[in-house]
Amino acid sequence: THQWRGIIEEYRDRLPVSDTTPVVTLREGGTPLVPAQVLSERTGCEVHLKVEGANPTGSFKDRGMTMAISKAKEEGAKAVICASTGNTSASAAAYGVRAGMVSAVLVPQGKIALGKMGQALVHGAKILQVDGNFDDCLTLARALSDNYPVALVNSVNPVRIEGQKTAAFEIVDMLGDAPDIHVLPVGNAGNITAYWKGYREYAADGVSTKAPRMWGFQASGSAPIVRGEVVKDPSTIATAIRIGNPASWQHALAARDESGGLIDEVTDREILRAYRLLASQEGVFVEPASAASVAGLLKAAEQGKVVPGQRIVCTVTGNGLKDPDWAVAGAPQPVTVPVDAATAAERLGLV
Ligand code: F0G
Repeated sequence: THQWRGIIEEYRDRLPVSDTTPVVTLREGGTPLVPAQVLSERTGCEVHLKVEGANPTGSFKDRGMTMAISKAKEEGAKAVICASTGNTSASAAAYGVRAGMVSAVLVPQGKIALGKMGQALVHGAKILQVDGNFDDCLTLARALSDNYPVALVNSVNPVRIEGQKTAAFEIVDMLGDAPDIHVLPVGNAGNITAYWKGYREYAADGVSTKAPRMWGFQASGSAPIVRGEVVKDPSTIATAIRIGNPASWQHALAARDESGGLIDEVTDREILRAYRLLASQEGVFVEPASAASVAGLLKAAEQGKVVPGQRIVCTVTGNGLKDPDWAVAGAPQPVTVPVDAATAAERLGLV
């Protein structure tokens, strides 16, 4: 009877729902805020990880999707559509099942992680692989929702942002106040927009005494906001944030400027270093895109931009199991042993 009820029930008074809205939920949200021991030592700060990979489909998208699908159902939609680098499609597919709706997903061909494709498939989504990148998929999804009976559930749908802002509420509720800095990976820029909205609302209502500086990090090969221009052919191993023309670009700039924050880039090498550090030293397995927040924090610390003594939260957005190829790549092959304790003990270095 004390189970977390999902973000709509937990934060009902702060979301655009009414008594008659059908709540489509998998009990998303309520994710762990984990103290990061090694990151805290390295930065001289109190660093926490908001582990969004603990959501039902393994990413923060579930917060937005419970809202988007509930509202689509309320409005009588029979089908929903999204463009996705993988996580949004996995989430739309699962919540579509709960709502008894058809989910159609458009993904860039060959550029989504296998685990995410598996999720969309097993939940029975209608998948089209588009001969183009995410930005092309989003253009197509918008055209379809404008002209056919299908509701768009990308983060350009404002109720997605409403759902995702609840992560900021949870952090303030757990820490007792907002952190000094909040660090996020940035792709289509919906999530940084959502967190900033959540933090601002709590500060405006006096639930927190302040709002944090918002720090966003894009992958260097897909860093249009940092460069100030659309990237035509975005590239990065962090496929979740391989986006060249973010839909919420202006909102991301507003979050940065209003909060006194920054938006910078991290290289794939820096992302993979942070990815391995999180797994091997903090015990938290995330997907590569999620490590961009931590890579960014470490980069900023090396540049002397992190004043010690602050409270910092890094959102790690998706579960490592979605894209395990990078965990296996470059790691030593496990040795094979016979069913023999002496040999096993020897190979384990126990003798
Ligand atoms: N991290 C992960 C794991 C993501 O899947 C995404 C976005 C982001 C970060 C960036 O968030 O777009 O709000 O700035 N994934 C979208 C998708 C694009 O289709 O799943 P953002």
